Amino acid sequence: MKLYKVLIGLLAAGLLVSVQANPSKDQTIVIKFSHIAAQDTPKGKAADHFKKLAEKYTKNKVKVEVYPNSQLFKDKDEMDALQKGEVQMLAPSLSKLAPLGIKEFEIFDLPYIFNDYKDMHAITQGQVGKDLFNRLEPKGIVGLAYWDNAFKQMSANKPLRKPEDFKGLKMRIQASKIIDLQMQSLGATPVVTSFAEVYKALQSKTVDGTENSISNFFTQNIHDVQKFLTLTNHGYLGYAVIANKKFWDKLPDDVKDDLKKAMTEATEYANEIAKKENDDALADVKASGKTEIIELTPEEKAALKKAMITSHDKQDIIPKAFLRWWLCGEKC
Ligand code: LMR
Repeated sequence: MKLYKVLIGLLAAGLLVSVQANPSKDQTIVIKFSHIAAQDTPKGKAADHFKKLAEKYTKNKVKVEVYPNSQLFKDKDEMDALQKGEVQMLAPSLSKLAPLGIKEFEIFDLPYIFNDYKDMHAITQGQVGKDLFNRLEPKGIVGLAYWDNAFKQMSANKPLRKPEDFKGLKMRIQASKIIDLQMQSLGATPVVTSFAEVYKALQSKTVDGTENSISNFFTQNIHDVQKFLTLTNHGYLGYAVIANKKFWDKLPDDVKDDLKKAMTEATEYANEIAKKENDDALADVKASGKTEIIELTPEEKAALKKAMITSHDKQDIIPKAFLRWWLCGEKC
């Protein structure tokens, strides 16, 4: 009772509050870095690598706590948690930024918008990538880096080779209007499902199939519940590493510089390992013997592309001028 009274007294005097508001120079800065993928994925490994580098370069002035696998927040809630300052960093897929009201981020979801990683890095590491990050700032978010995962593949419990094979299938998607259009262009019914629920949704047959990178497919054990995986490489899955702006802006300059250095190196690492991680995951899916891998003929690829690419014309989400700027890059 006595201690309680003393605490109340201290609070009233503002003493306890002032310790928090003005952390002493020696106080450790904690970064909660939450993400929804498994630890053993390109994003999981890159987040752990960033932690190691950030703690090393700041000489432990910063402690990074990485929470993988939707441990702390699921994909719908993590953005809210970042904006409220409940976590300081996230690495959501680019599709998950559009619901903030920045619909241009959905451009990454357009099927066949990139031919390869080189094509894509020219965009993310150029003016367009910077411009997109600038649009996050009024939402209280700072964009720090773009990390690759991979090109996406399609799976179901039946072989998917032709557009007709998708007819009537309920396909899990992220909450993206463009991916919704892409699935509709194949005659499928898109069903928005949070990443942490995908396995259960497939197992209970709430959905029939899904699209994702092979590293996500394998580490979420989707091979246990999907008999066929078609190598379509139809769309890109990548991430924006983002921070709470208020938190970031308040960091001492030397700490910010150390964290930027750590992020630059973690990004190089992320983008270096992404392809190998996905190649290894493909070997793991094959070795599981549970999912048949389907390689398409050039004709099958062309027919799927022809169907899915109609979403480029049908979409009215991304302003046409932005799409043009995107397609001609720095030359515009
Ligand atoms: C998804 O929801 O499919 C992806 O965003 C998961 C991920 O890798 O973050």
